[in-house]
Amino acid sequence: MCGIVGYIGYRDAYPIIIKGLHRLEYRGYDSAGVALLDKEMRVYKKAGKVSDLEDFVKGIDTSGTIGMGHTRWATHGAPSDRNSHPHSSGDRKLTIIHNGIIENYNVIKEALLGKGHIFKSDTDTEVLIHLVEDIQNETGLDLQEAVRVALNRVIGAYAIVIMSADDPDMVIAARKGSPMVIGVGKGEYFIASDATPIVEYTKNVIYLNDNEIAYIRRDDLLVKTIDNTVQTPYIQKLELQLEMLEKGGYDHFMLKEIYEQPRSVRDCLRGRVYPQQGKVQLGGIKEYSDKLKNVDRIIIVACGTSWHAGLVGEYLIEEYARVPVEVEYASEFRYRNPIITEKDLVIAISQSGETADTMAAIELAKEKGATIFGVCNVVGASIPRITHAGVYTHAGPEIGVASTKAFTAQVTVLTLIAFYIAQQRGAITRNKLIEYLTELNEIPDLIEQTLKTNESVKAISEKIKDSRNCLFLGRGSSFPVALEGALKLKEISYIHAEGYPAAEMKHGPIALIDEEMPVVFIATKHSSYEKVISNIQEVKARKGQVIAIVTEGDTAVRSMADYVIEIPQTNEAFVPLIATIPLQLLSYHIAVMRGCNVDQPRNLAKSVTVE
Ligand code: F6R
Repeated sequence: MCGIVGYIGYRDAYPIIIKGLHRLEYRGYDSAGVALLDKEMRVYKKAGKVSDLEDFVKGIDTSGTIGMGHTRWATHGAPSDRNSHPHSSGDRKLTIIHNGIIENYNVIKEALLGKGHIFKSDTDTEVLIHLVEDIQNETGLDLQEAVRVALNRVIGAYAIVIMSADDPDMVIAARKGSPMVIGVGKGEYFIASDATPIVEYTKNVIYLNDNEIAYIRRDDLLVKTIDNTVQTPYIQKLELQLEMLEKGGYDHFMLKEIYEQPRSVRDCLRGRVYPQQGKVQLGGIKEYSDKLKNVDRIIIVACGTSWHAGLVGEYLIEEYARVPVEVEYASEFRYRNPIITEKDLVIAISQSGETADTMAAIELAKEKGATIFGVCNVVGASIPRITHAGVYTHAGPEIGVASTKAFTAQVTVLTLIAFYIAQQRGAITRNKLIEYLTELNEIPDLIEQTLKTNESVKAISEKIKDSRNCLFLGRGSSFPVALEGALKLKEISYIHAEGYPAAEMKHGPIALIDEEMPVVFIATKHSSYEKVISNIQEVKARKGQVIAIVTEGDTAVRSMADYVIEIPQTNEAFVPLIATIPLQLLSYHIAVMRGCNVDQPRNLAKSVTVE
């Protein structure tokens, strides 16, 4: 979590930093701060959002052509002015911003306290900059070397930027386990947690690798490893467009992203699906085609919404490719002693490509010899770099903290992976594939059609917006859709919501049902339709309010439910891609009606780079 931005060049740094921090606010929004360096170092920081920082510095001199800024998601130390970044050394000459966690900060802090260091915050970050200062004082090393030595002493994850009042022509950036991108301009460099603050100034970027330190001057960049080996940085062209980062007339990023789904799913399918030939092509995993023929088992690891996508993937892969699948919370998997063999395939799903638990699960599975595929959205993020192969979701930047278009893109990719494996293993006939892929290609149009339910979903939202609890029920691959519907509602509207397999309701949750309890059913006309109807009746018999997502033209559920939302008919395999849409709209409208901050829900951050 935490977003970091840095600039060194000929322009005023402050506006670039503030704009960049707004773009990175999805990473955390507990507090924000900037450091600007001219003849002297000036640090301004404030608890609250980036806009609070802007108000705070109004009227203050923000000049300077070198600077850095930070937006925080608190880990060590409560959100407060004093725990906000940047943090300074004891002599105030050095300043640091940091994303990540220094795990051994306590031991280092104890030692530094013993030497008379005085700390002004409760953060691990402040300890790191004091350590650099201490190394310089003790050894007389220059700043570059002192930073390198300090980084060799810390355990944990970091992306840091350091500036020194003694060297106002240099910024030092380093990373290990937390993302860091350097934008390369003419006589200027940009540093950020992702490319979004950089894209409007340059399309040339360097993704710093783990254990690399960049010494950046206005017209010079030197990259070394923390072992002191000089590196040749690889400059890549950004594909990101500026419009992707704007709200484009929508009230919220979340709504924009919900409406982008016909496009994002289409982009995800493009060049991968050939219905007439009955063929799926996935360039990113092509090299592993033989492996897929012999794989014994697939383990999907992910967190949150991505884990829900994984559950949909389990249904699809088992159904079509006939390979056993297990879906694991990455955070649990990494702390068990899971049985993994070289014949296993692990698929790690992550929108951000940075989630710490998912990364740790990957490392564990890798150690045990499994092949690892990544399903990620952010190009160049850490997970695609540590996996053997993978498939990007191509959903474009997702800025709303609650995941929407990334979920449908993940499900689309998993659908493709299921068919791809089925194809490699001969588990599906060409004719069947032609049939499925033809329908899959129509999904973007069906999502477009489903978005037309918006007004009726809004009207239903009005009716249930004051509820304190809500149940979401579905069967088969609609069960993960129910989980996802519940997660969306709780994270942005703060209504307690649970997702359950519909049949499990009678084993407990039914006790909660009364006239106050809205129960959302995914009740499309597919394999468990009749069973779900029975579950609806059980809820109605207990006076629960039923909101049902049904297949167009359905009359049976309509006669029982309080409210229905019709979605277009599609193959059962693709229902999650369609049924999710009204649930996203439902949580969006309820959150707006309750006056919640839809794009930045409390306590959450989009990239969870801490355990
Ligand atoms: C929910 C949400 C989170 C993420 C989870 C994993 O709307 O966004 O539950 O899905 O934090 O993040 P990624 O996919 O980036 O690994």
